[in-house]
Amino acid sequence: MKLDWFLILFPFIVLIISSANAACSSDTCPTGGLWSVWETIDDCKTKCGACNSATYTRTCLSTSMNGGCACIGNTTISMPCGTQACNYPRYNGSGVICCVGSPMIINNWYQCGPLKTNSTLACCPTGGYWSAWGIWMKQANVVKWSRTRTCLSGELACPCTGEAIQSKYGCPCPAISTITTCDSTTKTPFNVRTPYYSSSDCTATIVFEATNFRKEFFFTNGTKDWSTLGWIDSTGKCNVQDASGFGSATSKAGSFYKFSLLCNTTTGRFYGRFLEANFVDVVSIGQFY
Ligand SMILES: *[C@@H]1O[C@H](CO)[C@@H](O)[C@H](O)[C@H]1NC(C)=O
Ligand SMILES: *[C@@H]1O[C@H](CO)[C@@H](O)[C@H](O)[C@H]1NC(C)=O
Ligand SMILES: *[C@@H]1O[C@H](CO)[C@@H](O)[C@H](O)[C@H]1NC(C)=O
Ligand SMILES: *[C@@H]1O[C@H](CO)[C@@H](O)[C@H](O)[C@H]1NC(C)=O
Ligand SMILES: *[C@@H]1O[C@H](CO)[C@@H](O)[C@H](O)[C@H]1NC(C)=O
Repeated sequence: MKLDWFLILFPFIVLIISSANAACSSDTCPTGGLWSVWETIDDCKTKCGACNSATYTRTCLSTSMNGGCACIGNTTISMPCGTQACNYPRYNGSGVICCVGSPMIINNWYQCGPLKTNSTLACCPTGGYWSAWGIWMKQANVVKWSRTRTCLSGELACPCTGEAIQSKYGCPCPAISTITTCDSTTKTPFNVRTPYYSSSDCTATIVFEATNFRKEFFFTNGTKDWSTLGWIDSTGKCNVQDASGFGSATSKAGSFYKFSLLCNTTTGRFYGRFLEANFVDVVSIGQFY
């Protein structure tokens, strides 16, 4: 345990310290995927000197990155635990010199190695790698909504750029407009009233014509009365549904149905159900004739 040790081990120590992440060259998947750091929940029998081993696990972070990047490698591994520096030689409970790995000197202390090192990335994506945004949460007594996300690659010496928290003074779901075109149906959209948007309640109130007074909005099929309702979602797709039940208001000219859509705090889009029509991810809405 003299100075000659240090000379032999010096190149090895330098190797451990110098680990940097190369930048990812494009939007392609990092080779081998993007793993979290190794973590253990085991209670290590020794607190220093790397005298014992523990089971470490890690998770694949890149499953939803660039459309899905699979990770290559084991998700569990057995590695030394209790890796803080302490004097060498060190004896375990049975009086045996313990050292998982080889003795080495770091900061003038004899230790057992290899020490647990930072996991490294194959490459660091530009701007780091964020988790998906969490759900929108309303702050009590204020019309303010916020959502957060975490930098998954930050612990891996690959910092994220951008905000980890996003706030909106108002409902996170944007107001719904009325449909002016809809390619997927031969029926003609009819603009009813522009939905009433309540930013503080986070609701969008829709009004549909309930009679054929102005247009042929509903038709009788068997014993049921039907009307065609539709909406355009955030992908631009027009979703059209026939909903029964409109006939109940047939006799009264100018009758209408009024109902509210609610804000989905995960997607930040309005959703809801009216009669048999199920609305999801609503950007524009309409009734057809
Ligand atoms: C991965 O796990 C398998 C099965 O437990 C084992 O044979 C292999 O050596 C492990 N690979 C590494 C790199 O630890
Ligand atoms: C000490 O180390 C020896 C050799 O690895 C092992 O057989 C023994 O079980 C250890 N004792 C304790 C208390 O960990
Ligand atoms: C990883 O590296 C960073 C910077 O070099 C350091 O601050 C951090 O403590 C390291 N984490 C582990 C678990 O070694
Ligand atoms: C009338 O109802 C039947 C059974 O529900 C359905 O198959 C048919 O397509 C409907 N006709 C129209 C014009 O919607
Ligand atoms: C909100 O959207 C998410 C993602 O599409 C979906 O899983 C969830 O069921 C929706 N919540 C409601 C209340 O519709």
